[in-house]
Amino acid sequence: MEMIRLKPAAVLLLFLLHSGLAEEVFLHSQLANQLLVRNPRANQIFEELKPGNLERECIEEICDHEEVREVFEQPDKTETFWTKYQDCKGIQMTRTGENINIVRQCLEGQCISGSGVNYEGNINITQSGRQCQAWSSSYPHPIIREFNASKPNSVLQENFCRNPDKRPEGPWCFTKDPTVQKENCKVPTCGQDFVPSTVAPEQIQSGECLPNYGLDYVGDLDVTLGGHTCIQWSSPEAMSLSVDKDFIPEVSLPGNKCRNPDNDPEGPWCYVEVAGNVTLDYCDLELCEDSLVQEFLTTGTEGRSVLKPARRTFFSPRTFGQGEIVCGERPLFEKQNKKDANEDELLESYRESRIVGGKDAEVASAPWQVMLYKRSPQELLCGASLISDQWILTAAHCILYPPWNKNFTADDILVRLGKHDRAKFERGTEKIVAISEIIVHPKYNWKENLNRDIALLHLRRPVVFSDEIHPICLPTKKVALTLMTEGYKGRVTGWGNLKETWNPSARNLPKVLQQVHLPIVDQDTCRISTSVKVTNNMFCAGYKPEDAKSGDACEGDSGGPFVMKYPAEDRWYQMGIVSWGEGCNRDGKYGFYTHLFRMNRWMKKMIDKTGKDDN
Ligand SMILES: *[C@@H]1O[C@H](CO)[C@@H](O)[C@H](O)[C@H]1NC(C)=O
Ligand SMILES: *[C@@H]1O[C@H](CO)[C@@H](O)[C@H](O)[C@H]1NC(C)=O
Ligand SMILES: *[C@@H]1O[C@H](CO)[C@@H](O)[C@H](O)[C@H]1NC(C)=O
Ligand SMILES: *[C@@H]1O[C@H](CO)[C@@H](O)[C@H](O)[C@H]1NC(C)=O
Repeated sequence: MEMIRLKPAAVLLLFLLHSGLAEEVFLHSQLANQLLVRNPRANQIFEELKPGNLERECIEEICDHEEVREVFEQPDKTETFWTKYQDCKGIQMTRTGENINIVRQCLEGQCISGSGVNYEGNINITQSGRQCQAWSSSYPHPIIREFNASKPNSVLQENFCRNPDKRPEGPWCFTKDPTVQKENCKVPTCGQDFVPSTVAPEQIQSGECLPNYGLDYVGDLDVTLGGHTCIQWSSPEAMSLSVDKDFIPEVSLPGNKCRNPDNDPEGPWCYVEVAGNVTLDYCDLELCEDSLVQEFLTTGTEGRSVLKPARRTFFSPRTFGQGEIVCGERPLFEKQNKKDANEDELLESYRESRIVGGKDAEVASAPWQVMLYKRSPQELLCGASLISDQWILTAAHCILYPPWNKNFTADDILVRLGKHDRAKFERGTEKIVAISEIIVHPKYNWKENLNRDIALLHLRRPVVFSDEIHPICLPTKKVALTLMTEGYKGRVTGWGNLKETWNPSARNLPKVLQQVHLPIVDQDTCRISTSVKVTNNMFCAGYKPEDAKSGDACEGDSGGPFVMKYPAEDRWYQMGIVSWGEGCNRDGKYGFYTHLFRMNRWMKKMIDKTGKDDN
């Protein structure tokens, strides 16, 4: 009877506990204790009990294992309770009035007395103020390799601190920081005051950033990101590498200091000597985020002329190989004056939008699509794209992602071209090629936000083009200016292995290459859709929640291309690389892509340099 009369108070307390006032309640534990005295909360352990039973049996008095078994009847419930009971000191605390409350509160899960295996509270910040990663997610840390949150009755809810492996230090969580896998949390101790941890303030950018890509930098730094010391700009090695470069005469090159004489969007750099070879590397200087418009206005004049037939090439065929002249014109479509079944939707999006979800791609409609394949054990790794007969483009995170222990070398990977069917070996059309070199962008930021998620792969032997194997064009300034527009749609293709790559439990892979059309989203909307720091080296695409439309980056393919058709040339251009998506099937979350136009200069430098090494 007493129980029933007190129920409103219990409801009120529950409300208080859940409405963010929990802190208050714990700070005034005396008061809380009074309220709690006779109000067991409904929760997982208690709901199937007759009220009063447990209280009489095991909270007010010490129970032994046998008595607990009688209360719970089922063995698994008994063991769950027994573990908590022990951890809550239920079998050792003498039952004074205060201790009874402590045992009760502990069993309710909002505070801990021992190692906190009982903890069911919703603290989701670590002791140093890092945010916790959701237990069901695989990014940044592959939690599923150790804990399966989707098991029935799992205590691993949301991103709350828990102690599933009974660590003596208490509840902990995986953190959203890729460089810190697990960290302990500060949670309330039963019967004691509690001051919760707070989220650490955003790291303030270390002072100033350099505007204009560091063109005006006159500092003394002479060491690169790779830890190499710069060599003198006037040395014969440096001079010979600079000879055919369009350096800006106003940028002086003193001694061996980091400078940006060629307006490189990645900022100041210098030549370095690595194992007897002279190459270039960037310097660790913070660049300001210049606006994209600025970018278009200030980037050099290297844009390819769009006038036919005098098509100028951006890359040197000597280092890039063949393909730039014919890129983006598919042998079985543009070359035969045919359209594929869905491309009109893209062109229409340049006028008005209409929505279509993902579907099977037509055979040879994405002849630049590449499959990155692990040699052993054989496994689909990622998508990629063919940009010449010698070079492949993919996302850096397909090659290097330390939180996943991923760090592939050229020997680990095979490239499969001309494919349509995912699983079959397609005799006659498919080609398998080895790679000789992987170049991951030196400023690729896996530690924070996958900024500059790009890697180049050099094929060991040039591939022969065919109806099913054909390169895609890289964006010129003119194409980027025209097409990178909010609402314009691009096409993402892939075998849908994004899910596989980031979450090994989902193996729902399609039979043939899939394609989906997605509209480009304005950068401000991209920024507010995520807690990840969005940079101008990324853009996002997908449907807004109000469009209520299926189809998102998950249906694409990590490392694969985001392409658009440029009507003025009737050619396809790759504008992005599938990079990352947050909660692939959640509303208001877009897929993020590496902004390829921003990477042009870097690609050219890397490709020129590698070609030289080969000669
Ligand atoms: C932590 O949990 C609270 C309450 O459940 C929630 O409102 C908040 O968004 C969470 N914070 C993070 C960083 O997940
Ligand atoms: C996790 O548990 C669920 C439910 O028991 C099961 O379907 C799934 O296969 C498990 N995943 C892994 C990776 O063990
Ligand atoms: C230096 O160049 C030689 C010859 O091109 C090459 O075999 C070697 O791998 C290069 N070393 C490094 C560290 O790149
Ligand atoms: C990746 O592996 C290479 C050697 O293959 C090593 O030099 C490099 O430090 C590794 N990178 C990371 C981030 O672990």
